[in-house]
Amino acid sequence: MSVQSISMPYLIPDMPSAEEVLPFLREIDENRWYSNFGPLVLRLNDQIKANHFAGEDVHTLLCSTGTAALELGLACLGLKPGARVLVPAFTFPASANAIQNCGFEPVFCDVDEQSWVLTPEIAFEALLRTRIDAVMPVAALGRPLPASQWDRFCEETGLPVLIDAAPALGNQRVGKHLVVAYSMHATKAFGIGEGGVLATADADLIARARRICNFGMDGVGRVIMQGTNCKLSEYHAAVGLAQMQRWPARQLKRARIETAYHAHMQLHKDLWATQSFVDRPPEHDVLVTLPVRNSRSTMPVRLSDHVAIDIHDVQERLAEKGIGTRLWYNPALHRHPNWMGHRQIHRAGLHSLATVDSLNNRLIGLPFHNFLSPEDIAHVVTSLWQIVESREFSASIS
Ligand SMILES: Cc1ncc(COP(=O)(O)O)c(C=O)c1O
Repeated sequence: MSVQSISMPYLIPDMPSAEEVLPFLREIDENRWYSNFGPLVLRLNDQIKANHFAGEDVHTLLCSTGTAALELGLACLGLKPGARVLVPAFTFPASANAIQNCGFEPVFCDVDEQSWVLTPEIAFEALLRTRIDAVMPVAALGRPLPASQWDRFCEETGLPVLIDAAPALGNQRVGKHLVVAYSMHATKAFGIGEGGVLATADADLIARARRICNFGMDGVGRVIMQGTNCKLSEYHAAVGLAQMQRWPARQLKRARIETAYHAHMQLHKDLWATQSFVDRPPEHDVLVTLPVRNSRSTMPVRLSDHVAIDIHDVQERLAEKGIGTRLWYNPALHRHPNWMGHRQIHRAGLHSLATVDSLNNRLIGLPFHNFLSPEDIAHVVTSLWQIVESREFSASIS
């Protein structure tokens, strides 16, 4: 695929301008405080709690990346070296990297056909087959997971659950027993360049994670546990504070773009399926019930099984029309060379991670960012329709 031919990129990060960040940089100059849980990091932490976790009783820690948030969360679960962590193969490599970086073993499982995520039901099924010490469900492509169902899973099994909600800051609830890791990478809806958030209702866990994040040291500089350095700098917090000022307007924009996509997609809904995060019940589990709170960062579309076209061909043909796309999460984790020999748990009666493999052959991510016009969206959907419909027609007469 020729990069030059793409006139409509899949993603254009929407970062604050230099002018918007400047007042916060001036504060850093005045404070002479550049890192180590400085005043801007603490203020951003408070604002994130108020904005992204409104109405929830949570404690949060900001850190350098979403991957670091996953590792801090995993390190605080009380697992033994070599512990087995169940993780869906349908995720970004960071999920399994974090598990291995902490000295644990990723055990790959399938996802649900409808929601594309690991459900408690699939996790219960896996527990019947092998020993599992913790579970890492993933808010794949930003789809929020039902916190109350996972809380119930923790209560019934006694196993710790760490949700990888990297693409779902603002959408994923924390619940009572869960530990949740989010990313603020530039590609995410609330992007600050690089950054992560660890959130949980457990204040002690956040205090432990804060120590690990700062070399494992206590308040007087003694190392009391194994640590690392993954603190967020004041400069990234400056970008975050500037981003927060634009957040309500940007959420509204995202909601409008999502609504426009769904309106166009409705016309050919026998050819594909997508998922709305805007109007999905139940409210108890999902923060996103009003368009104004939309923090979605992707627009994945799953082609119907009767559309006889390879997903790579669809991507190629859209590129010929200047439209950039993504194939997720492709390859899936169990198909990366590093993880090919790893333990997999198949669903009853199956000999592969069948739904993950099928999603990889049917799923395509359409352009989704704040710079799309209604005409762009119409062009993307019409182009997709022309490509898949012509193939469906030729398949049915051959
Ligand atoms: C599902 C998932 N987990 C983890 C990460 C890693 O986050 P970060 O890039 O902030 O380290 C990502 C990043 O895209 C992701 O999509």
